Amino acid sequence: MKKVLSIRNITLLISSFFTILLFFILAVFSPSALEVILLISLFLLFSISILLLLRYERKQEHNEIKQVIKKIRGNEYKSSDEISLSSNLRELEDEIKAMFSRTQSDIQNLKKLEQIRTEFLGNVSHELRTPIFSIQGYIETLLDGALEDPKVNRAFLLKANNHTLNLNNLLNDLIDISMIESGQMKMSFRYFNIHELLKVIENEFKPEVVKKNLVLSIHSPNPKLDLYGDKQRLKQVLSNLITNAIKYTESGSIEAGVIEEGNYGKIYVRDTGLGIPEADLSRIFERFYRIDRDRSREMGGTGLGLAIVKHIIEAHDSKIEVSSRLGIGSEFIFRLKK
Ligand SMILES: Nc1ncnc2c1ncn2[C@@H]1O[C@H](COP(=O)(O)OP(=O)(O)OP(=O)(O)O)[C@@H](O)[C@H]1O
Ligand SMILES: [Mg+2]
Repeated sequence: MKKVLSIRNITLLISSFFTILLFFILAVFSPSALEVILLISLFLLFSISILLLLRYERKQEHNEIKQVIKKIRGNEYKSSDEISLSSNLRELEDEIKAMFSRTQSDIQNLKKLEQIRTEFLGNVSHELRTPIFSIQGYIETLLDGALEDPKVNRAFLLKANNHTLNLNNLLNDLIDISMIESGQMKMSFRYFNIHELLKVIENEFKPEVVKKNLVLSIHSPNPKLDLYGDKQRLKQVLSNLITNAIKYTESGSIEAGVIEEGNYGKIYVRDTGLGIPEADLSRIFERFYRIDRDRSREMGGTGLGLAIVKHIIEAHDSKIEVSSRLGIGSEFIFRLKK
């Protein structure tokens, strides 16, 4: 604690000195009763003056603090360096500065969150509008007579149905994102067999892959390998990555597998697809980000898949990495503890 030569310290020193002096005179000089009364009166007078001085000083300090608080409330400070109190209030000044900086950063964060929220709502409304308008369009056309036209009625109904499926996917993704971001998504971490999970994925996606004339191969050399994580959520991650690989690959193959690396298992999903331009690589994990908006939307994509993947992998204390070459293919990898 810093020692400061303030009015308070000086008055305390002087009053201690006079108290000792009073006792010294009383003990050494044995003064008469009148002299004692005089001395005590002088001492009292002196003490009262000291109290008044201290009171004055306290009032000054109060005013100083009040001024600073008033200025903070009135938003008059641009930075904490502008806050200043007299030297005997240095510690309080440091505390007020720390509080000011904290409040400023909280306000900045709130502003940023508000902006993100507005952007998010804008994106959601935009994404909802497309399928709703399409469904509305098909239904109106059917009601206006197309229902009786056997050449188009079924096709229109199928298209409307596809849009309701997209709408459902969008809502599911939105629920996932909001659960993750509000910290409500409960993760259940335990050891699971990665070989089995990859096999389940392979069976689930085979029909889709075959339909697109692609090849899906799974590489999992150690059938006994257990990794640590939330199996259900990791299934969601692999499904998202493989769905993307299928969606964005016109010909060739998709490989998914696991390689043991020390205490970790490195999981990868590769494709021989369109590839991702260098400039987009860092952005594809953002919510609603799509390289080719129209093409992705046509395929029922909303750009939330990789944002969900990123969140889930980060909840496993890991990170998702991507490398890609345009026209050659892409590879997504992440590591899990053994
Ligand atoms: N394997 C891939 N090859 C090429 N581009 C990809 C690949 N995976 C993702 N992308 C690009 O990254 C974008 C974001 O992917 P993401 O999975 O987040 O969204 P989406 O597939 O468009 O929609 P959603 O997954 O929400 O249905 C995609 O629109 C696509 O442009
Ligand atoms: Mg996707």
